[in-house]
Amino acid sequence: MSNQIKIPRGTQDILPGQTEKWQLIEAKARELCERYQYREIRTPIFEHTELFQRGVGDTTDIVQKEMYTFTDRGDRSLTLRPEGTAAAVRSFVENKMFGNPNQPVKLYYMGPMFRYERPQAGRFRQFVQFGVEAMGSADPAIDAEVISLAMGIYQELGLKKLKLVVNSLGDKESRTAHREALVNHFKPRIGEFCNDCQNRLEKNPMRILDCKADRDHELMKSAPSIIDYLTDESAQYFNKVTKYLTDLGIGFEIDANLVRGLDYYNHTAFEIMSNAEGFGAITTLCGGGRYNGLVEEIGGPETPGIGFALSIERLLAALEAEGVELPVKEEIDCYLVSLGDEAKDYTVGLLHKLRMAGFSVERDYLDRKIKAQFKAADRVNARYVAVLGENELKENKINLKSMADGEQTELPLESFIEKFKEISR
Ligand code: HAM
Repeated sequence: MSNQIKIPRGTQDILPGQTEKWQLIEAKARELCERYQYREIRTPIFEHTELFQRGVGDTTDIVQKEMYTFTDRGDRSLTLRPEGTAAAVRSFVENKMFGNPNQPVKLYYMGPMFRYERPQAGRFRQFVQFGVEAMGSADPAIDAEVISLAMGIYQELGLKKLKLVVNSLGDKESRTAHREALVNHFKPRIGEFCNDCQNRLEKNPMRILDCKADRDHELMKSAPSIIDYLTDESAQYFNKVTKYLTDLGIGFEIDANLVRGLDYYNHTAFEIMSNAEGFGAITTLCGGGRYNGLVEEIGGPETPGIGFALSIERLLAALEAEGVELPVKEEIDCYLVSLGDEAKDYTVGLLHKLRMAGFSVERDYLDRKIKAQFKAADRVNARYVAVLGENELKENKINLKSMADGEQTELPLESFIEKFKEISR
């Protein structure tokens, strides 16, 4: 075993027993998207590196430190997608979805994302995001819709200990005023900050606020907050969003320090956290916000947009922390127990017919004794066990046992499938 190859750091295998939970969550996400009328988009796992540099932003941690970037054999710089928004916007522009008569264009995606981060509980290098993007509307009602969809997933899966935090990052004018205030605030003592922050001061001072290394510096707490720099228009927009959230009965807190780690945001920004005791240090389950201007940045016409993304890994961790068991069905309709060579041969065809009739069925493939076959049936939670021995076969019969109440019925072999349909309903 010394030459065994291990899984790469920060990735995980999702094994049978777990995959059923993933499927259930994925089905819930799809079902909600159907109700909210978001349609699925599938984009490539890798994109031109420039897409993320321009979209996510050159000064973000994601672009500076976390991308899996490689040069392909044709000398192109490609990057495994670290997030889904930039790609959704690229596709929106490339496929001229802005010309679609159905506006806004409401999309969702589900798939693996890649970030070279230090792995810890809830943080992986490959993780699966479910996200939505609504492009083409600047109505604050769509901000509330997107937030309500994100909250809905968690709530319908049974989570209760959730905290929704919202903020407004304002429009360009608000941002310019805030930016100036930030520069004035940090500049005199920028020497006390990390190299990245020193670079960010001129390029993008807002990024200093979510620096992991300088998180505890005293100037962080006293930093000017964007909310005090919002223009009237931005403030009104934000009021509308919070009014709609209140109308929908969605509780929230306003956190003026919520700036998000990606550059494309303006106006509404939000995160959903888990309040569950015992949840790891990273409590953010979901993040999103408005990105008016990103479509133009990627080469399309002026188009407003908003969306969110959440990872299924963190959703599962939250379910575990709250002790929520997902209603995963782990049972099969029938297990065929057989005795003797002829009966064993017969079950090959019978198994097939039952499967063709739509039942989930299994039989023994290890030549087990009858007792062990019953144990195997138990292990897969068979609702019924059908026993076919040499005598039964001679008499053209099969014995059906209900595992719920132990009741046994002898059925004619030829009409077994028809009868099983009635009995097992
Ligand atoms: P983000 O905040 O970078 O936003 O990521 C969104 C969510 O992805 C996080 O809240 C978390 O659940 C999950 N996530 C991020 N990194 C990891 C990781 N290393 N391991 C596990 N889960 C992780 C975005 O990605 C934006 N594209 C969201 C968005 C969509 N904004 C507008 N539209």
